[in-house]
Amino acid sequence: MPDTRKRELGVCYYPEHWPEDGWIDDARRMAEAGLSWVRIGEFAWSRLEPQPGQLDFAWLDRAIETLGQAGLKVILGTPTATPPRWMLTKHPDMLAVDENGHPRGFGSRRHYCFSHDGYLEDCRCIVTLLAERYGSNPHVVAWQTDNEYGCHDTAISYSDAARRGFQDWCAQTYQSPDALNRAWGNVFWSMEYTDFSEIELPNLTVTQPNPSHVLAFRRYSSDQVVRFNRAQAEILRRHSQAPLIHNYMCRVLSFDHFDVAADLDIASWDSYPLGYLLDRLDASEDDQERYLRQGHPDAQAFHHDLYRSVGQGRLWVMEQQPGPVNWAGWNLAPLDGMPRLWAWEAFAHGAEAVCYFRWRQAPFAQEQMHAGLLRPDGKDAPAIGEAAEVARELVEMPDAGTAKAQVALVFDYPSSWAWDALPQGADFTYFGLVFDTYKALRRAGLSVDILPSDVGTLEGYKLVFVPGLLALSNPLEKALKTFSGTAVLGPRTNSKTEDFTIPTPMPPNLPSLDCTVARVESLPPFSTVPLENGGEFIRWFEDLEGSADVSKKTDDGRPAMMSSGKMHYLAGWPDEKAFDALVTDFCKSEGIATLVLPEGLRVRDTDTHRFMFNYAPEPVTFDGVTLEPAAVHWQPI
Ligand code: GAL
Repeated sequence: MPDTRKRELGVCYYPEHWPEDGWIDDARRMAEAGLSWVRIGEFAWSRLEPQPGQLDFAWLDRAIETLGQAGLKVILGTPTATPPRWMLTKHPDMLAVDENGHPRGFGSRRHYCFSHDGYLEDCRCIVTLLAERYGSNPHVVAWQTDNEYGCHDTAISYSDAARRGFQDWCAQTYQSPDALNRAWGNVFWSMEYTDFSEIELPNLTVTQPNPSHVLAFRRYSSDQVVRFNRAQAEILRRHSQAPLIHNYMCRVLSFDHFDVAADLDIASWDSYPLGYLLDRLDASEDDQERYLRQGHPDAQAFHHDLYRSVGQGRLWVMEQQPGPVNWAGWNLAPLDGMPRLWAWEAFAHGAEAVCYFRWRQAPFAQEQMHAGLLRPDGKDAPAIGEAAEVARELVEMPDAGTAKAQVALVFDYPSSWAWDALPQGADFTYFGLVFDTYKALRRAGLSVDILPSDVGTLEGYKLVFVPGLLALSNPLEKALKTFSGTAVLGPRTNSKTEDFTIPTPMPPNLPSLDCTVARVESLPPFSTVPLENGGEFIRWFEDLEGSADVSKKTDDGRPAMMSSGKMHYLAGWPDEKAFDALVTDFCKSEGIATLVLPEGLRVRDTDTHRFMFNYAPEPVTFDGVTLEPAAVHWQPI
């Protein structure tokens, strides 16, 4: 069915930062620029409750009314990412504790530990007050819970509350210390416990902690984020019909977003392409230079596709970079046209709304160097013109649509925790392996769906990649059995139990593929395994044995891929060239059309249109169309 949901723009606004007599003008200018949504409130706790129990909602009533009267739809944030100073006096032990055992102090934000029950109770109170007061306010059309769970490394805390909570979690999960000892292999180094109360958190150990212990703690920590978010969602649902949203981030993997999203309606994320290129994506120096003012050509698309899946089809961009940010190593201005391109790219990947961050640049505090749609003096900054242009274009084309892709990629948060716990190679990251797979697919012009690891069917897809998945879930194993397309698993897929031990039969233990990983080695950057027909394995190589067909070989004749019918297992981490060859071959055999794109051009197909985005710093020509740098082009399919 064609997707005809509306596409709209919005902005993030902090009425509490500005004199009240300017709100009406701000609201008018937002509406004039064609913005429909405005997110407010997510950091305003010290103004809503200046002292414990002393509430002041009157200003927020007026702010919501002013914005609503201008025709704007409000997304109201719960303010729990910034507990006021008095909260610490009330709960001195509520701070998250870092790996070295140091509490993380007051004076910025996210200074709370997810395991702290007292703080959670106070969050319930403020959320209840907000929900009761605004739950049926006609201008409050969506809610945001907290802000960016996990940002600034805050999902994991080594506090006393976390230790007690973890002991409890272990007791519930394993039932007896013996069962836990067996599951983790604690006979090793005499690590056995006789009581759950003896279990510490896996920091401050003399040397490497047991990876099973680390993985269990990561699962526990993720569950705390879920619990924290669920507490808010339950309250909001009791008082409001409006959709619940959280704003996720780029490459934050510290909690299972699929689990959090199960309690929400829409997944959104905060897209800062230029900052991310330099500080989060392990981009090569060449890519950093080439895409310095555009962002990595695949990073936004990847997160749109990931969060579209997390949101079960419903995606927003809650914060969109408008100009230079303040937090990366270096903070550049986007090429003219990029704030427009980023918005259209989000729409082409299924976003229903894109909100620029923020309305007016703050003249004070940590983010005073962060651009907004307006300058600190209230004059237009460059991005507002681009936002207005997108708004005008949306009138012509409000329903960009999404389409089911032919190619899918499985993504799993626990796998990332597992390979963090025991990377085995210094540069082995789960994100890196999945993102390299995604990039190869995008270079071939393919639109990609990202699937959770417990997906129960692969029907409708022709080609599915499952790289580096810790353990195949039962539903996925079943889905693979009946899948009629091509499945590519490995390296490292299904190589551990859920408790992080090596299973027997040995990995990958795939239905209908007789192939065993006999030995693995990790490869430093100066040592690779060349492949027979070009390209090489980087970072990781597995010796495969078994009776399945050897469908690709290394240069010296060892198996690089083993196959049985359309099920394939890859023995290493392909470099770009090897990945490109693999993708082309698989697509050919499945009858999927690939494209040969100029470097930096990306294509995304929706139900109705083909979109092209030029991330290259030079003009490119494709399919008879020339796109200037930062240009977007769309044509009916
Ligand atoms: C986001 C955050 C915003 C603001 C922004 C600056 O991570 O949600 O509050 O800090 O970054 O780029």
